[in-house]
Formats: sequence, C-alpha cells, structure tokens
Amino acid sequence: MRILVTGGCGFIGANFLLKYVPQLPDVQFLNLDALTYAGNPLSLQSIADRENYDFAHINLANDLEVTNAVEGFQPTHIVHFAAETHVDRSIKYPRDFLNSNVIGTFNLLEAARQVWGDNLSDKVFHHVSTDEVYGELGETGMFEETTPYSPNSPYSASKASSDHMVRAWNHTYGLPTKITNCSNNYGPYQFPEKLIPVMSLNALAGKPLPVYGKGENIRDWLFVGDHAEAIFRVMTDGPVGETFNIGGNAERTNLQVVHGICQAVAEISNQPVEKIQDQITFVTDRPGHDFRYAIDTTKIKNELGWQPSQSFEEGLHQTVKWYSENPNWIEAVKSGEYLKWINEHYQGESN
Ligand code: TYD
Repeated sequence: MRILVTGGCGFIGANFLLKYVPQLPDVQFLNLDALTYAGNPLSLQSIADRENYDFAHINLANDLEVTNAVEGFQPTHIVHFAAETHVDRSIKYPRDFLNSNVIGTFNLLEAARQVWGDNLSDKVFHHVSTDEVYGELGETGMFEETTPYSPNSPYSASKASSDHMVRAWNHTYGLPTKITNCSNNYGPYQFPEKLIPVMSLNALAGKPLPVYGKGENIRDWLFVGDHAEAIFRVMTDGPVGETFNIGGNAERTNLQVVHGICQAVAEISNQPVEKIQDQITFVTDRPGHDFRYAIDTTKIKNELGWQPSQSFEEGLHQTVKWYSENPNWIEAVKSGEYLKWINEHYQGESN
C-alpha cells in the first residue's frame, strides 16, 4: 500500500498518521497539507523523520500541484481528510468552505482519475465526511446511511456537496470510492475552536465556559483514535462505492459534556468541582443551531465488525489531561488567526 493522506496536519488526519505510520513501516505515507490556521506540523513531530513518511505543503485548491503530487507519489490509497470543519466559522466565512471542501475535493478526484487511469483494481479513494450532511434530528431517531441529505449550515452544505461528487465520480467514472460519515470527534490535537478543547482550555485557565443557548443541544461523541481505526477498516475491508456511518454511541447534551470537563479538570487540578462549574456562562445561541445528531452504527458493526472501544467519560478525562499536559502544542496553535477568532467570536467573554 502507498497511502496519500490529505489534511494530515489537521486533527483527525494527524491522529490517523500518528497511529498508522509507526504501526505500518512497510507502507509509504505522503501527507498533503495546506497548513491553514488549523493545521499544525508540530502534531506530527514524532513521525516527521520516519522513512515511511513524507510531507508536501500543498493546497488542494491548486489543481496542478495536486495532480503533480498524486502523479509523483503514485498512491494505491487516498484518504481525504482535508477540509474546513468549523460550523461557526462557516457562518462567518462561507467562501473558504466552498474553496477547500468543494473545489479541493473536485481537484483531488480529478487528479486520482487522471493518474490512476484504467488501473483501478487495487485502488481506493476514501472520503472522510460528517453526519452533519443529514441535517438535524429531534428527540428521537438516528442517522442511517440511507437518511436523505439535508445540510443546514454552510459547512455541512459544502461537505454534502463533496460527498455527492465522490459518489458521482464512482457512478460515472468507476472511481473506486468509499465514504464515511462520522459524528463529533474529540481527543488530542483538536484545534481549540471546537466545544471540547475550548471548554477544556478555558476550564484549566479559570476562564468563562461559553455555552450556547441553554446547552441542551445533543451530539454523539466519537474518540478520534476509534475513528482512525474505523476509517482504516472501511478503507481496507469495506466494499467500493459504499458509505459507512461512524459514531461513538455516546449522546450527550452540551451541558453534560461541559460538566464532564469540569469534573475532569477538578480531578486533574485538585480543585473543588463547584469552583470550575461557576465558570459556566450561557451565551447567545448559534444561528440555525442543529438540535441533535445521533449515529446508527449497525452497518459498520455488522459488516466490518467495528465498534467504538472508548467510553466517553474515559476518553474525555484522557483528552482534558492531554490538554493540561501539552502547553507547547497549545502555545503553537495560538497564532494571530486563533486569537482573532476567539476575540471576534466570543467578544472577549472567554479569553
Ligand atoms: P462544535 O464543537 O463546534 O461542533 P458541531 O457544531 O460541528 O457539532 O460544537 C459542538 C456543540 O457545542 C454545538 O452544539 C455547539 C456547542 N458549542 C458551545 O455551546 N460553545 C462553544 O464555545 C462551542 C465552540 C460550541
């Protein structure tokens, strides 16, 4: 196998590479990453010098560079993680999401098609996507692979668009594609603009914990290491042309998640939990805020034997601990871009 990964300096891509580059020394990996604000080469420091790993600083919006990189590396497998993923940011800067998620995916599909030509028997184009393409759920029900697409935010609309293209490239050109749609990921190396890292860092620093609305929205939380394993399983064993949903079987309200973070911080820093809970502040809700996401994992469990291994409480504790023990990584991501976002978005509430 020769695995080309896009967006390997981002959260999920980095966790995938950190797991499989050392585990598979006979497999060659190439990481294409644009190094936007959310991509941090420091996350990959421990594998950077490995012989089976290489990095190229490439933006998928540049079709020529993408084609040249795919041509040069001759991958058997492409795992496409690269994407803009933050809903709040997509509400403010929707164009970035079209460029990265729609045009970027189009360029990568075209590069694969051109370079692979008719030699498709041992090839896989694996597209990593989100459950947000299915829209939102009420109190009951779960997203299945057959749930109709109904994206609500500029982010989910851009991911839905990319999923449709991947599916169409399989149907029209016979490109050997696979798609996975995952629930909310959490774990080490997540950029501190998403719920769990924002709350963990603020809780550790004694700053306000900004809960949108009443904190009643529900997400299903998937530990990133479990997600990486599910992707690898689908990439190697899943049938071509199919979609698999990946979830953590861990539905929690946002307030439950924040209370879990307060508990973990209390244990780690040896402080009374009430003191940290006092930092919770309810702030203006997100426009068009999806109420609930939940994933039915029956298909991947029955067909590929995968299920999440991590309990949410264990994974959350481990994650908060990681943020408390990695100040160097946190300092490195606090670039001008990060500080600008935190100041604009929370209007000084949380920093
Ligand atoms: P987020 O991590 O942005 O993921 P997504 O919107 O893709 O699910 O948000 C998870 C939930 O947490 C979502 O319901 C919005 C909420 N949230 C807050 O209440 N406060 C925050 O500061 C953030 C970033 C998110």
